[in-house]
Amino acid sequence: MERKNIHVLPEEIEKQREYIGIVKEASKGQIRKYHLSTFGCQMNEHDSEKLAGMLSNMGYIETDNTKEAHLIIYNTCCVRENAELKVYGHLGALKKLKSENPELVIAVCGCMMQQEEVVNHIKKTYRHVDLIFGTHNLHKFPELLFSVLDTNNTVIDIWNTEGRIAENVPVERKDGVKAWVTVMYGCNNYCSYCIVPYVRGRERSRLIVDIKNEVDILGANGFKEVTLLGQNVNSYGKDLQDNTTFAKLLYEINKVSGIERIRFMTSHPKDLSDDLIYAIRDLDKVCEHLHLPFQSGSTRILREMNRKYTKEEYLELVYKVKESIPRISLTTDIIVGFPGETKEDFEDTLDILKKVRFDSAYTFLYSKRTGTPASKMENQIYEEIKKERFEKLLEVQNSISKEINKEYLGKKVEILVEGISKTNDNIYTGRTRGNKIVNFEGNKDCIGEVVTVSIDEIRTWSLEGRILKNH
Ligand code: SAH
Ligand code: SF4
Ligand code: F3S
Repeated sequence: MERKNIHVLPEEIEKQREYIGIVKEASKGQIRKYHLSTFGCQMNEHDSEKLAGMLSNMGYIETDNTKEAHLIIYNTCCVRENAELKVYGHLGALKKLKSENPELVIAVCGCMMQQEEVVNHIKKTYRHVDLIFGTHNLHKFPELLFSVLDTNNTVIDIWNTEGRIAENVPVERKDGVKAWVTVMYGCNNYCSYCIVPYVRGRERSRLIVDIKNEVDILGANGFKEVTLLGQNVNSYGKDLQDNTTFAKLLYEINKVSGIERIRFMTSHPKDLSDDLIYAIRDLDKVCEHLHLPFQSGSTRILREMNRKYTKEEYLELVYKVKESIPRISLTTDIIVGFPGETKEDFEDTLDILKKVRFDSAYTFLYSKRTGTPASKMENQIYEEIKKERFEKLLEVQNSISKEINKEYLGKKVEILVEGISKTNDNIYTGRTRGNKIVNFEGNKDCIGEVVTVSIDEIRTWSLEGRILKNH
């Protein structure tokens, strides 16, 4: 079904294409270089692939070296305070570079820019910044960049509401085997600690037909794995109001030839339907891995967090998933030190860890975010107590992760080879369907292939093995 009203009008994208042409033309064949740093989640990483796509169409090439860049751009995150502090640190350091090279264009975009006080602070403190834009108008980047180059003025363009979905923005993907595909934007959940709904807007789902087209092209271009992205990916389709569900989308993507593995994140427990559990169980390409954040084990804290489930409901859900999909690997996110978290509340969090036995867990110290309800709550927890609890969680989880990994010793696993390991040229790396990282000695012909590896060593975060055969 055509739903033109939720899309950025094709004319708008056409207009951006024209700006891409104009910027390219204006460089008069001279090579311009850009340096792009990304903070935050996969959604932001993928947005940066769109920035890279637009930039390469404008004739820019990437450089690691800020000193030789004509354009430096930071795609920012504000989910926790330390993410913001890093960006301010970088911006401060650029002042000298800009004074030495006034032609340099410095741009900042992404989630941080959707907060008025951040934009005001940058305007006041980091006057060497030339371009500020937000998450909702990323597709307008060519026009905004042109405006900076043309006028030499500071350009600030932030949309306060989400507007429509921009289809057909150029993308330059970092990887040739795995691809991220955003299937929905925004979040409606308003967990009381979280800034994301304020900076990413309401939930908007792309149409199945548009997503399918994108994945078809990926499959035809040699990509083997797609990760479908959404802040709350399993609520995909609800806003379309035509009975589209995330499970239905998985059935469609499963048909795409060339694609061998499908992953998705992040799922919210409240939207984990039986249909989705059966889709993971039944669809051959959908990997047996579920990232299912529980955030806290205490029902009282979960209520304060506005998570809409209890400890018992979460555990029941996990037991149902484990029963339906015996080979499922589970990962999660946890926050320690939410306001008012007592020792007993924390014990409940440890209890869930021990009962579920996740393959791995991402643990975060609660960070106060201005504008969220939790930031106004009393009983904020002392940093030392947060850190103590954090260490304890890590200790418990690391020993569970290691025990789970031990079960792989001597076993054969099928992995999709992603590339060379970062630390050693002879060592290649890939993942099992359950998302375990496996390192082995290989050669570059196996990149993008599914191979069998026999596991003979285990680490907390990865497995080591010998390649047995190519499929
Ligand atoms: N939409 C996803 C991801 C949100 S951000 C989800 O709901 O899971 C990723 C993780 O950051 C969250 O799962 C949460 O554990 C953590 N997080 C979000 N806000 C935070 C805050 N204010 N302080 C500490 N951790 C936070
Ligand atoms: Fe934030 Fe909650 Fe939405 Fe995740 S589901 S992005 S934690 S508000
Ligand atoms: Fe950060 Fe924005 Fe992602 S706040 S976690 S980059 S959605």
